[in-house]
Amino acid sequence: MPTALITGITGQDGSYLAEFLLDRGYEVWGMVRRASTDSHERIDHILDRLHLVQGDLLDQPSLMAAFAVAEPDEVYNLAAQSFVPTSWSQPVLTAEFTAVGVTRMLEAIRQVNPAIRFYQASSSEMFGMVRETPQTELTPLHPRSPYGVAKCYGHYITVNYRESYDMFCCSGILFNHESPRRGLEFVTRKVTDGAVRIKLGLAERLSLGNLDAQRDWGFAGDYVHAMWLMLQQDTPDDFVIATGKTHTVERLVELAFAQVGLDPNDHVDTDPRFVRPAEVDILVGDATKARTKLGWEPRVSFEELIAMMVNADLQRLSS
Ligand code: NAP
Ligand code: GDD
Repeated sequence: MPTALITGITGQDGSYLAEFLLDRGYEVWGMVRRASTDSHERIDHILDRLHLVQGDLLDQPSLMAAFAVAEPDEVYNLAAQSFVPTSWSQPVLTAEFTAVGVTRMLEAIRQVNPAIRFYQASSSEMFGMVRETPQTELTPLHPRSPYGVAKCYGHYITVNYRESYDMFCCSGILFNHESPRRGLEFVTRKVTDGAVRIKLGLAERLSLGNLDAQRDWGFAGDYVHAMWLMLQQDTPDDFVIATGKTHTVERLVELAFAQVGLDPNDHVDTDPRFVRPAEVDILVGDATKARTKLGWEPRVSFEELIAMMVNADLQRLSS
């Protein structure tokens, strides 16, 4: 039975990946940071099948201890400060978690067992002010947020450990992916939750930022499959994971409100508080390499994704 260790197991992707690996017969370890209360909401339903070990990306000895106790064959580094706006208010902490944290992970693996296969959660946010459309593995990077800059560091240190030490390190450049488990501050979930609250009389208005931004949105459940596929190859490599279709935030709002039978013009306004100091205007990925080499395909369309999220919020808030 192979063993996997996931950092960020309490997050959106960590919970889907844990389910995916358990279904494939893996022994799954999750690294969690110490908190005064547990934040296991997304993994409550599988908690009895998981092994949890405490550790923090800021603390290298805790990473080494986690690897020593779990003895993983595969490590998925999903932990990060992942919310872009927070990276302007906490730029140094974001760099410590999201950038240097990756070096701590790689160094711990190198010292405990360099044969461990490593997945790094890189991001389309690295493309920032895009140099070409669609974006591929070869598109130059131009990050537009402290988060994007930190992810560029994490990406290249992963490539560097592969090239320096011949370690099996892969970087997945994932475009935005969402689900009913998405954090409430990200725009898809903010909109689906907001539309449902207005429908149920729990809220009156929804305030958003830039409605013109365009994103290539996919379903998180499809994307964790790609992470696993990367670590099953003969040679380590980097892959763009995306749907190849892009939509505006405005279109997202139209779809979510239509799903609950409301006109967004009656309920949605824009608030400069949610506009970013520097914006990523458009992202759309070309996942040809993943399709060809990994045999990976996204299964859930944007329209199906938003319907799934609205329905889940309806169910949650009606009960
Ligand atoms: P998420 O829901 O925000 O989850 C982040 C996870 O990281 C949580 O489990 C959090 O633990 C953990 N974490 C944060 N700081 C930590 C630290 N210092 N030590 C240990 N754990 C820490 O993020 P996600 O959407 O699942 O994304 C997973 C990864 O993919 C992230 O690295 C993100 O940057 C990257 N990514 C995401 C997308 C996307 O669209 N979702 C796209 C590209 C890349 P707590 O529960 O304790 O807070
Ligand atoms: N969060 C948020 N809230 N975003 C808004 C709002 C709002 O009220 N109004 C408009 N937007 C716009 C943002 O300006 C951005 O252009 C877009 O909606 C998407 O914002 P988020 O959902 O916060 O995601 P993100 O694209 O900044 O970052 C996500 O995707 C990255 C991959 O490209 C995160 O998951 C990152 O961790 C990930 O790396």
